[in-house]
Amino acid sequence: MMIYLDHSATTPVDEAQKELILKLMYTDFGNPSSLHRLGVNSEKYIKKSRTQISKALNVNEKEILFTSGGTEANNFAIQGAVPKSKKGRIITSVFEHPSVLNCVEEMSKKGFDAYYVKVNTEGILDLDEFKSALNPETVLVTMMHVNNEIGTIQPIEEIGEIIHNYNRANNTKIVYHVDAVQSFGKIRLDVKKSYIDLMSFSAHKINGLKGSGGLYVREGISLIPLVYGGGQEKGLRPGTENIYGIASIGAATEGAFKDLEKHLEHVKILKSKMIEYLQENCDDFEVNGSIGDRVSPYILNVSFRGIKGEVLLHTLEMNSIYVSTGSACSSKKKSYSHVLKAMFHEDERLDGAIRISFSKQNTVEEILKASEIICKEVKALRSIIKRR
Ligand SMILES: Cc1ncc(COP(=O)(O)O)c(C=O)c1O
Repeated sequence: MMIYLDHSATTPVDEAQKELILKLMYTDFGNPSSLHRLGVNSEKYIKKSRTQISKALNVNEKEILFTSGGTEANNFAIQGAVPKSKKGRIITSVFEHPSVLNCVEEMSKKGFDAYYVKVNTEGILDLDEFKSALNPETVLVTMMHVNNEIGTIQPIEEIGEIIHNYNRANNTKIVYHVDAVQSFGKIRLDVKKSYIDLMSFSAHKINGLKGSGGLYVREGISLIPLVYGGGQEKGLRPGTENIYGIASIGAATEGAFKDLEKHLEHVKILKSKMIEYLQENCDDFEVNGSIGDRVSPYILNVSFRGIKGEVLLHTLEMNSIYVSTGSACSSKKKSYSHVLKAMFHEDERLDGAIRISFSKQNTVEEILKASEIICKEVKALRSIIKRR
């Protein structure tokens, strides 16, 4: 039995989308820009997806921009929303996804003043430091909702309120971007109440196709395109639309938001069963990232002391259990995770970390089986190390 526990890296596409995608490939395959019937048919899928996403987020259809995924959406928000003058402060946090951190770094090379807010040992952003980082030169704040490696939920609403009040008091126009790739369709976030201007999301984290995502762009926020071409997506994102990805993200969003609470309850049970099992049967391990309601039930990051996370990952793989050491994007790099390093510095704890990420598809039976094998393999690896 294969037990897939790497859903924060990606998810399988919902079976229900098979028919939809095949139809778009072989029947409704027209170019959405074509004026004839086939083109008009294709365009309907784009409209439908925009409606599905805007309904889920409770925003206007005009405020949804399709992209090739979370990475492009983040780049769009950061590069597209700041003034061309190449001046001003961009505030982010030390443990963002590389698609934010590397983009902000590039912006700082161009002349922007990048400020990285620290996080505490629990993996939660320091709000006091954030408040003091705001200054009249600030042009953009970019923060993630759920951290992709440890699952901690950042105070997005509070940050939004702080920015809103700051803008009102100082007559500034700081734009607020949220990377919601790991929370979209999983943990509710009120876009309006949080005063969010831009918000990134991605299809393949919620059982949609890879290479498809989007950016919520609040009405009134103007963006500069990253590429130039025809008039698709109001000229902001030209090029013939990825109709499969767009239809897929709409369907995936509708499904994820409809049963969001049900799925959340389900994964809560899965995660607590695994923690319970580990606590009873495995010693010398630590959960990385705050436990309780400030962490997503979809992600569990654990360090097993004395062993290497990567060795454990491959040992589990031999048992057909798939987990991750950090985020999929950084796991091939041979250095410690920048997320964990932002929280603590003990080599043994950094070395022994694995990320287990759950989904609505996992069963309690799978979790108990996986927990049993994890404990067994951790013990076996430790006894090999002891004998050396
Ligand atoms: C928090 C976060 N932001 C952005 C991304 C990038 O999304 P995509 O894979 O769609 O480019 C990821 C992907 O893992 C992520 O976890």
